[in-house]
Amino acid sequence: MKFFADTADVKEIRELASAGLIDGVTTNPTLIMRSGRGFIESIAEICKIVDGPVSAEVTALAADEMIEQGRRLLQIAKNVAVKVPLTLDGLKACRALSQGGAMVNVTLCFSPAQALLAAKAGARFISPFVGRLDDVSQVGMDLIRSIRTIYDNYSAITTEILVASVRHPLHVVEAAEIGADVCTCPPDILRKLLQHPLTDIGLEAFLADWKKSGQKIV
Ligand code: G3P
Repeated sequence: MKFFADTADVKEIRELASAGLIDGVTTNPTLIMRSGRGFIESIAEICKIVDGPVSAEVTALAADEMIEQGRRLLQIAKNVAVKVPLTLDGLKACRALSQGGAMVNVTLCFSPAQALLAAKAGARFISPFVGRLDDVSQVGMDLIRSIRTIYDNYSAITTEILVASVRHPLHVVEAAEIGADVCTCPPDILRKLLQHPLTDIGLEAFLADWKKSGQKIV
């Protein structure tokens, strides 16, 4: 499974990329707003830090304007993936941009039916928002299971399941158990994946006993 960083914070992305932890980045208008930086310049800088797909979201609602914005975003770098919402106009834009060779990430997916239509429209990635389904007392990971089942029924579907709205490490583990292609995580969750108190306790005990042995590795 690939790991993307779900942030527009360039400092965080640089640190995670240097540790070899991320295969790409996803942004959206909220994350760009939080970064406090210019959209185009942020995406350009992020595309230089990671070689993998960098999702940049259009903000128009009409297909023709989405396509125009998407083409502008594609000029930034070869690894830009244009993000469009799961609406009829979004799928129209997805079809047009993907037929032109662009990577398109169809976002704000909340049902298997939506995911099936996004695949039909040529999406490179589908972004189901699991955390937001959990927020309304639905089991977000059930959506991932359903999409995986549907996509695996058709060899012609090459759309990658990009699990989004990830809120804790168990979303990540379950996404991998289901066989999602990508999980996009906020930086703090990527860090939590590494942590376990028993690892810290065990390492401390090993080093204390090594010190008692009085030996050195030379
Ligand atoms: O990639 C989508 C993600 O940023 C949304 O997360 O926590 O706002 O549902 P959240």
